[in-house]
Amino acid sequence: MNKDSKNIALVTGGTGGLGTAICKRLSNDGYLVIACYHNAEKAEKWRIKMKEEGYEFPMYQSDVSDYHSVENMIKEIEAQHGHIDILVNNAGITRDGQFRKMTIENWDVVLKTNLYSVFNCTRNVINQMCDRNYGRIINISSVNGQRGQFGQANYSAAKAGMHGFTKTLAMEVARKGITVNTISPGYIGTDMVMAVPEDIRNKIVAEIPVGRLGGTEEIAHLVSFLASQEASFITGANYAINGGQHVY
Ligand code: CAA
Repeated sequence: MNKDSKNIALVTGGTGGLGTAICKRLSNDGYLVIACYHNAEKAEKWRIKMKEEGYEFPMYQSDVSDYHSVENMIKEIEAQHGHIDILVNNAGITRDGQFRKMTIENWDVVLKTNLYSVFNCTRNVINQMCDRNYGRIINISSVNGQRGQFGQANYSAAKAGMHGFTKTLAMEVARKGITVNTISPGYIGTDMVMAVPEDIRNKIVAEIPVGRLGGTEEIAHLVSFLASQEASFITGANYAINGGQHVY
């Protein structure tokens, strides 16, 4: 809690498509929301846009793939605002391409940004959560970590790994009032999905029973639910939110 007794939420990838909706929703819920970003130029444009819409988020730059960069950021946040109650591991990138042509660089950067980041951020908040007997860790994975996707061996591996992490950490910290859960969104109308070539994207949308891309607010709604104090018996779960594209 910060000095105004508001719970503090840290959202990585806060300036991205899902991140923006999550920041706004948690702020509307009454949390003090801190947005972590990587690209300073994009972040400044985002800050101005958010202000126009009536939101002012404390913002911190970090390379979430780098442990020490994250460690420094968390120390700074704790010094300035207090301990983090809710961590949303949302930062992620794609480097799509068939595995037989995949470079080690494209494997590495996706694993480090999408999966090592989860270790880096969670490791730096977990002990203070244990000390205070409260915490919410929400990992944003993907339908493609659950079912695989042509061209995404790196991304699917990272996203599936995220849920393995969730299951184990959930067990380890369950007695400490901390829940750890995964959300696996399907295809949502973000820049990341809109970057998929239109013909391929149209074929993917045609396979979604609900008949459309998901909305970013729909994911934020689920984050809000899992972040709430009332969700204290839900831990180690993986919530599919994909319009019926993958049912199992
Ligand atoms: N199944 C089988 N074959 C397929 C295929 C599929 N789904 N998709 C493409 N192919 C075949 C093509 O027919 C073509 O075959 P030929 O060589 O015989 O002609 C070949 O694979 C494509 O060759 P390319 O050289 O074009 O392949 P590439 O290595 O450049 O990869 C790709 C193409 C980038 C993977 C492209 O198919 C693509 O963008 N696919 C969509 C990937 C996707 O869904 N990404 C999700 C991004 S959003 C996100 O990740 C958010 C989230 O969590 C959901």
